[in-house]
Amino acid sequence: MAKIVFLSGAGLSAPSGLSTFRDNDGLWDKYDLDIVCNYSNWRQNHHLVHEFYNIRRKELLRVKPNAMHYKIAEISKKYPVINFTQNVDDLLERAGCDDVYHLHGSLLKLHCHDCGDETSLCLEDELEYDFAPCQKCQSKFIKPSIIFFGEMAPLYERLYEVFGSLDSDDLVVVIGTSGAVINISYLLRGFSGESVLINLEKCQYIKEKIFTHIIYDSCDKAIDKLDEIIKAWDKKA
Ligand code: APR
Ligand code: ZN
Repeated sequence: MAKIVFLSGAGLSAPSGLSTFRDNDGLWDKYDLDIVCNYSNWRQNHHLVHEFYNIRRKELLRVKPNAMHYKIAEISKKYPVINFTQNVDDLLERAGCDDVYHLHGSLLKLHCHDCGDETSLCLEDELEYDFAPCQKCQSKFIKPSIIFFGEMAPLYERLYEVFGSLDSDDLVVVIGTSGAVINISYLLRGFSGESVLINLEKCQYIKEKIFTHIIYDSCDKAIDKLDEIIKAWDKKA
């Protein structure tokens, strides 16, 4: 049966009020990614790293899913969907999505770098890591379960497997990513089915010509157009 594959980035959560990374005033304008998101030196910068992620977790307490999060959840209930996101927030889950592949990890999870023991933070904890040592081995090197630059991203294997075996009657929907980290053009090379790019604006890393549909608008304003594309696709599939 034909399926819909979503691949989203920070632009999906932008209408909810979460910062993107590379837009003006984005996170990487304000913080040095080499200090707060670098696998080779995060232990030396342990305090700064957790301060950065605690700030981002606290932001989660004051934001809500937007119309596009809910639309993805609604589509996931009607069609076979595979849902990849680069986002580390939980807005897709809060909108009702299950089985989201968080390619770059989750803000709500931490793990011990020495013994692997994983803990989840919840809204009641105020989503703040308090620098407590590992309960299992007492190591102080607790790491946000976020894929840092220079770190292996285990879920990329599943991403390449799905994109490498797309059928021509599948539909791919790419939402709110600059393509700066995941090479969207490479993922879609040779795909002959329908594909939708939803982004605020044209971006340098993503070749427009690989998409059959392009919507340059805020993703929460692109719901009706996406609906039309999916309805027409469904009739053909
Ligand atoms: N609607 C749709 N797209 C939007 C919106 C919006 N309201 N607001 C911003 N965008 C677009 C921007 O135009 C940009 O192309 O979303 C994209 C966000 O790009 P980035 O900030 O680079 O975020 P992302 O693509 O998710 O970054 C990928 O880089 O730093 C790493 O791990 C981090 O997962 C992240 C990865
Ligand atoms: Zn441990």
